[in-house]
Amino acid sequence: MDTETIILQNAINTDAVIQKLISKAVKASKNAYCKYSNFKVGASLISTNGKIYSGCNMENASYGLTICAERSAICQMTADGEYGIDVIVIYTPTQKATAPCGACRQVINEFSTKDTAVLSVCDSDDFIYLGITDLLPHSFGPRDLGK
Ligand code: THU
Repeated sequence: MDTETIILQNAINTDAVIQKLISKAVKASKNAYCKYSNFKVGASLISTNGKIYSGCNMENASYGLTICAERSAICQMTADGEYGIDVIVIYTPTQKATAPCGACRQVINEFSTKDTAVLSVCDSDDFIYLGITDLLPHSFGPRDLGK
């Protein structure tokens, strides 16, 4: 691990909000409805107003209707009248952290500020911590439609 990664790892391990998001994402992953892929994913986010929402992936016999954990958590957020993401954590029970899929990056971007952070964690020390603008550069978003 390089120095920057170690500093980030320490920050992640000591930040109470991040730890709470991780434990909620882990808990949500246990409810994943993923009988086709068997790939459990949990997500938990804190809104810009400090409220926490979680979700898991939900598959369907018509495979393309699958909803990822990230979008599931974001639906919970919007159902509660919240429209801004401060941090979103994604957990997979794997040895390598997995970044959100392209569709989820676009949906995260919809509800992002320039400071929105995306953290992927897993069962090892591996993690991915990026701003949404790094995850989805040159994005098409609300501002392109004057919103
Ligand atoms: N999945 C997520 O929940 N989030 C992602 O960002 C990537 C993929 C789910 C969808 C599907 O249920 C399973 O993982 C395998 O693709």
